[in-house]
Amino acid sequence: MTEELLRVEGLEAGYGAYKVLHGVSFDLSNGQNIGFFGPNGHGKTTLFETISGLIRQTAGKIIFDGTDITNASSDAIVEMGLVHVAQGNTLFPDMTVMEVLQLGAFPKRSRQKLRSNLDRAFSIFPRLTARRSSKCKTLSGGERQMLNLATGLMACPRLLILDEPTLGLSPRLKEELVRPISDIENSGVSLILVEQDLEFLLLLVQRLLLLNHGRITKRIDRQSEQVSHQEIMEEYFGVAVTHES
Ligand SMILES: Nc1ncnc2c1ncn2[C@@H]1O[C@H](COP(=O)(O)OP(=O)(O)O)[C@@H](O)[C@H]1O
Ligand SMILES: [Mg+2]
Repeated sequence: MTEELLRVEGLEAGYGAYKVLHGVSFDLSNGQNIGFFGPNGHGKTTLFETISGLIRQTAGKIIFDGTDITNASSDAIVEMGLVHVAQGNTLFPDMTVMEVLQLGAFPKRSRQKLRSNLDRAFSIFPRLTARRSSKCKTLSGGERQMLNLATGLMACPRLLILDEPTLGLSPRLKEELVRPISDIENSGVSLILVEQDLEFLLLLVQRLLLLNHGRITKRIDRQSEQVSHQEIMEEYFGVAVTHES
């Protein structure tokens, strides 16, 4: 096991001729967590879909746990323990909670751990226990997000990427996700948390990267730097306002 879990170097990607990522580089050590923030449309989802093999990069390199995964298939990447929980509602409406969780355990390495992973999922998200036989279409917005996160955990991640888990949730429901996400961090899983809700992000990570027009333009290590909450907010809104005006 290497100390370095993920290294991304000069990553470029986009959609056809439309380039979204213009050379993104960052790394993450085992057990570390990072937060990505930045306004809508600046390439956060594209970055993590590229890292998880759903979009092909046009330049750059991705190394996971010492292996070059730049050209690996998305299935092979999940098998290695890099698991990406997509943005938005991706649940099949007529499947039950239990069926979705079992589907999450599709990687070979997690199949033998189905029982213990189900126990872990239900202990981190007790609300799902009572809903185990319910169809996804009957779940509330908060329960759906819990199920998305729990399904990611079923795949035995070493690195779990959560793309905007609070999207569309009320402040109260967002708050309900803080404890389970910090439980996931404390269980030894490295986490990349993508959020537009900076307040939420600040509760969960020490290292923050700002993605601005497909480039990382700010790196903040809150442990070693005295960066105030206010300064981070200004950084974020500076970019958001420039982008939207
Ligand atoms: N499937 C797609 N086809 C073409 N353009 C896309 C597609 N998905 C996203 N984009 C564009 O790529 C840019 C970055 O989007 P995205 O990665 O979703 O940003 P974010 O997650 O930061 O909101 C946006 O301009 C968006 O319109
Ligand atoms: Mg996005």
